[in-house]
Amino acid sequence: MDINGKTYKDFLARIERQKIQNGSEKVNSQHKKGKLHARERIALLFDKNSFEELDAFVTSATPDSGLGKIDLAFGDGVVIGYGRINGRLVYAYSQDFTVMGGSLGAVHARKINKVQELALRVGAPIIGLIDSGGARIQEGVASLSGYASIFHHNVKASGIIPQISVILGPAAGGAVYSPALTDFIFMTKDTSYMFVTGPNVVKEVLNEEVTFDDLGGAEIHAKKSGVANFIYEDEENTILGIKKLLSFFPSNNMENPPFIDTQDKIERNVEKLRTLVPDDPNKPYDIKKVIELIADKDSFFEVSEHFAQNLVTGFARLNGKAIGIVANQPKILAGVLDINSSTKGARFIRFCDAFNIPVLTLEDVPGFLPGLDQEHKGIIKHGAKLLFAYSEASVPKITVILRKSYGGAFCVMNSKNLGGDYNFAWPTAEIAVMGPEGAVSILYKKELENAKDPKQMKKEFAAKYRQEIANPYIADEKGYIDEVIDPADTRKKLITAFESLENKHIEAPSRKHGNMPL
Ligand code: HXC
Repeated sequence: MDINGKTYKDFLARIERQKIQNGSEKVNSQHKKGKLHARERIALLFDKNSFEELDAFVTSATPDSGLGKIDLAFGDGVVIGYGRINGRLVYAYSQDFTVMGGSLGAVHARKINKVQELALRVGAPIIGLIDSGGARIQEGVASLSGYASIFHHNVKASGIIPQISVILGPAAGGAVYSPALTDFIFMTKDTSYMFVTGPNVVKEVLNEEVTFDDLGGAEIHAKKSGVANFIYEDEENTILGIKKLLSFFPSNNMENPPFIDTQDKIERNVEKLRTLVPDDPNKPYDIKKVIELIADKDSFFEVSEHFAQNLVTGFARLNGKAIGIVANQPKILAGVLDINSSTKGARFIRFCDAFNIPVLTLEDVPGFLPGLDQEHKGIIKHGAKLLFAYSEASVPKITVILRKSYGGAFCVMNSKNLGGDYNFAWPTAEIAVMGPEGAVSILYKKELENAKDPKQMKKEFAAKYRQEIANPYIADEKGYIDEVIDPADTRKKLITAFESLENKHIEAPSRKHGNMPL
């Protein structure tokens, strides 16, 4: 080909048209909002020069619908392709808000489907960078069908490759459901929002005044709805968060998570663990301190940090190997299990199980939250999700009971009879059908009614109950736990125990799928 000839010039002109039109009104407007361009995001996400774009020259195939012109921009408002993130193959799509507000028409959807199919075919994670006004109004039903096919691909890939959605601008209407079907959702503060119906329609239908942020901003979804698993101040930090999260995942469900040498010693001294749990059973402490002492240094990466904080979930490393941690948080609501914490824990365990990430449970829980509100909202059904998820999970599962393990909560938090591989307890553990105060009120009802000083008597009975019944040695003697351990040995014990489970294999009878209580 003549490098100065017309054919080559035409090719170069096309390449030029794909590039970010820096200085243009639309790109400027994007930057002014504190947002990056779709291509800038791709450049930040992937290892330098590793991204290979596909379908860069396609344009919308839809004829003018009469509802307004369709921008025949190259790419049709979405950049797709594959590249390397920390050396590992990942597929991605990045919606371009400067082309018709990143709205989704038939070709745009077909492009997203293409990377969804490729990622599934080769067994690599897929990341969607979302910045879109939703279904392209001019393309009508073709846009809606496009969304439906994205959802269908999301579901087909679920549990086979990790899928991550990153909301970096609007995600309105049906656009929210692809992220909801993926494994994790990231949002950036102040520039991203997700809602089924925007403030204008809310005003029309319900006569309620609501702002974009209050309806579906990043903080609302991180704290209240639990829809967003991670929120960051800006796009740069969001992308760093994605890279960190990916470091814990295998590329697909047939592989194990990658090993990273953390240089942290197995036999590290963790004597501090002996004094972390207060003597007074009603005193709170921070379970995250326990996690930090047990896990490899600086390896803990919390998931859904701001939602249902009475249960902590996150990834960490033990001797360089990835684990998922589910831990009751005595600092918040005494670590009680309620609807939100049950669904949070269940979803996290199911992800770990799908992607061969062993689960460590740290238990200190007084039970399920009682009362009208929780019962009426279905704590029975939602609590059962956690039971189902633990019971169904076939990855290595270990529990350490630190303090309270009462009633249903004993069963739920990966007890031995639910399939726990190793169940340890610290000497501070209290394992019983119910807490001492509740138990003595039932067992010694008559004595307490007739006592001169019922308060004092209750205190004495409770102390006796704690010593004689609610201790870990009864469970140990009867084989309901494997061992009472010195807290200082916890890290070493867990590393050895998880290593012994590396070849764990459970053959389940064939079935279409279980019927989880949704
Ligand atoms: C076509 C769209 C569009 C859309 C935005 N644009 N959304 N074009 N279809 N859905 C275009 C605008 O016309 C404009 O074009 C450009 O994108 C930028 O939009 P602005 O409104 O100027 O930007 P901004 O002020 O930042 O507002 C962004 C926005 C707003 C909040 C997203 O555009 C908006 O409300 N859009 C509609 C959102 C929505 O309701 N979508 C449909 C949801 S229903 P010009 O040419 O002026 O630059 C749905 C069904 C899916 O998605 C069902 C699947 C189950």
